[in-house]
Amino acid sequence: MKLSQKDVLGMKEMTHDDINLVLDTAESFKEISTRPIKKVPTLRGKTLINFFVEASTRTRTSFEIAGKRLSADTINISATTSSLIKGETLIDTAKTLESMRPDIIVLRHSAAGSPHLLAKLLSASIINAGDGAHEHPTQALLDMLTMKERKGRLEGLKVAIVGDISHSRVARSNIYGLIKMGASVALAGPATMMPRYVERLGVSIHINMEEAIADADVIMMLRIQMERQDESLFPSLREYSHCYGLNGKRIELASKDVIIMHPGPINRGVEIAPEVAYGPYSVILDQVSNGVAVRMALLYLLAGGGEA
Ligand code: CP
Repeated sequence: MKLSQKDVLGMKEMTHDDINLVLDTAESFKEISTRPIKKVPTLRGKTLINFFVEASTRTRTSFEIAGKRLSADTINISATTSSLIKGETLIDTAKTLESMRPDIIVLRHSAAGSPHLLAKLLSASIINAGDGAHEHPTQALLDMLTMKERKGRLEGLKVAIVGDISHSRVARSNIYGLIKMGASVALAGPATMMPRYVERLGVSIHINMEEAIADADVIMMLRIQMERQDESLFPSLREYSHCYGLNGKRIELASKDVIIMHPGPINRGVEIAPEVAYGPYSVILDQVSNGVAVRMALLYLLAGGGEA
C-alpha cells in the first residue's frame, strides 16, 4: 500500500483513491493509540524531520507522536533553533537536512508553495504541514476522518465553513477534499474575507451565516487570522462575533445531529462561544486525536507501506 505520489502537498493534488486509502489506514491505526504500550516497529530505521518555521501546537506535536508511535527516528527543528536565524535560506537548509538522509520532511512555513519547492529539489517525501494561507492537507484529512466517523460517510454531507475564508489554508484544503469526496460545501463570512472566484471550486457563498448553516450536518468554524492581515477587514470583534459567532441559538438552525468542528486554536467568545466549543455537539478534541492517526497513516504510506 502506497500513495500514488511521493509527496503530500495539497488536497488539490490528492486523488479520490488516495484520500480513501489515507482515511482507511488512519482508521486502522487508531487502535495503536489505545494500547498500554503505544508503539509498533513499522518505521524502525526510517527518519522523520519535522521542520516548523511557523508556530504550531497540534500539528507539530501530533507528527512527533505519530513518528514515535511508529518507531521512526523523529527530529524536530524550529525557526528559532535553526540556522535560518543566521540568514541561511530555506533551500540551503533543506539541502543540508537532505544530506543526512531523512525519509520524510514535514514542513510548516509562512510562504505559500514552499513545500512544493522542496518536493522538486529533494528526494525525501515532503509533507505540507501548512504553507501560508494556501493549504493544510493533513488538517483536511483529519477533519474528513472525523466527519466520516461521526456521519458514516462524506458523500452527500452538507458542510458549512464559517469565518475568515480568504486567509484560511484549512478552508481551502477542506473545500478541495470535500468536493472531491461528494460533500456539498457552503461558505459564510464577511465579503472582505471571501476569496475572489472561490465559487468556481463548486461551493456556495453566503454573507449571512444563518443561510449557510441551515440544515448543515457539519459546521466548521474558523479563527480570524490576524497574523495574515495587514488591514482591518471588519469593524470590531464585537460586531464580527455578533454576525459570525457560533452560539447555542444558531446551532438550532442546523441538522439536529450536527457536529461542530474547529481546527484550533480557538478564539473563545469571538467565532465560537466557550459552551459550544466544549458542548455536546463539539468534536474539536476528536479532531485532535484523529490528527495523530492520520499522520501515522501518512508516514506509513509514504515511508513504510510496502514493507509492513
Ligand atoms: N490546526 C492547526 O494547524 O493547529 P496548530 O497551528 O496548533 O498546529
